[in-house]
Formats: sequence, C-alpha cells, structure tokens
Amino acid sequence: MANEKQVLGVLCSGRGTDLQSIIDAVARGEVHATIGVVLADKPEAYALERARKAGIPAVCVNRKEYEDREQFEKALIEELAQAGVTLVVLAGFMRILTPYFVRAYAGRIMNIHPALLPSFPGAHAHRDVLAYGVKVSGCTIHFVDEGTDSGPIIAQAAVPVLDGDTEETLGARVLKEEHRLYPQVIEWYCEGRLQVEGRKVCVLPEKS
Ligand code: GAR
Repeated sequence: MANEKQVLGVLCSGRGTDLQSIIDAVARGEVHATIGVVLADKPEAYALERARKAGIPAVCVNRKEYEDREQFEKALIEELAQAGVTLVVLAGFMRILTPYFVRAYAGRIMNIHPALLPSFPGAHAHRDVLAYGVKVSGCTIHFVDEGTDSGPIIAQAAVPVLDGDTEETLGARVLKEEHRLYPQVIEWYCEGRLQVEGRKVCVLPEKS
C-alpha cells in the first residue's frame, strides 16, 4: 500500500483554504498523491471553484437534493468510488458522517478540526474556545471513527489565544497551522508511516 500512489477524495463545505493548501503541496511535489475528486455538499462552496481552477474534477453532491442522510452518503460513496479514491480527506466538511459512510472507508478517513481535541469538538470551535477563556488553542488532525471528532489523533499544533481575539483573528491564526500540518500528515499517510494502535497513532521514522 505504501508504495501505491494514494488517490485523495477531498470533501468540503466552504471556501476551501485547507483544500488549497493540499492542492499546492501536491503541485510542489511535497505530497505524493493524486487528488482524484473534490466533493462539496452545497453548490456555492468556493472549494469547487478552487478544484476546477487546478484541473481537478469537482462535483457538488447537494445535500438538499437527497431525501435522507443515507441516500446522500450513498451518492458521496459512488463519486469517491468512481474516482478510485483511497483516502478521504475532510477539509472543512461541515456534516457529520454516519457509521454507514465511516464503515465504507474504515481507517481511511481523516478530518481536521480547528481546536485541540478532545476539547471543543463540534461546529463552533473558535466561539467555544473564546467563551471558555482558554489561553491555548490550535488544530487537530485525526482519523474519523463513528463518533463526532472522536477518532485517533494523528497530529496537533497549538497557537496562543490572545486578549481581544475574535473568532476571525483566532481562526486566521489556527488556519495558518492547518495549512502547514494537513499536507504534512497526508504525506505521512502516503509514505505508510502512520501506525494506529487503538487510540494511539505513531508516526514511524522516515524510510531511508
Ligand atoms: C477549517 O478551519 C477547518 O478546520 C474547519 O473548517 C474550516 C474550513 O476552512 N473544520 C471544521 O470546523 C470541521 N468541524 P476552509 O473552508 O477555508 O478550508
């Protein structure tokens, strides 16, 4: 597996700056993978535009057009299978995936969360961080399991929370780390260096 080129399927809901960091890292030769498809759950997601600009197939699987979550997820899985995706990368995808989807790609789904898990899971991490008053936040990249933001943690980066921070200023500081860390973690996966034992993920040394 480690020697076969991974095919990424990137799922987004919004502006897609995390996606852009992965597109750029692939283009620079820092991530040895192909982005097979970018999927968004809403047509206005700017991530679709970013993918198209980079010549990557981009498909909107509009949640509103599906009766229920299972039908929606079936459509996602169909697109991923058609593109030959081997690793699903959630990059600002704001929907919770059901066990049905998670089982289809068990151990092959990653997510990035804009806080230091297990603190502040959910859709409003920066708001919750600021309301709680913690002094350090950051981002977490983890494998996705059947819970919400609860899978084995691969990597984290910390940033300070400063007096006077807003969701925007804190979000921008965290995003900078996201854009550095996500491509790095994907490359570790591509190199076959992520070893999962229960909740623990080890990054194996680089092969010489
Ligand atoms: C990122 O901060 C990512 O961590 C977060 O959404 C943002 C997407 O930004 N993801 C979540 O909150 C998932 N629960 P982007 O659209 O510019 O990549």
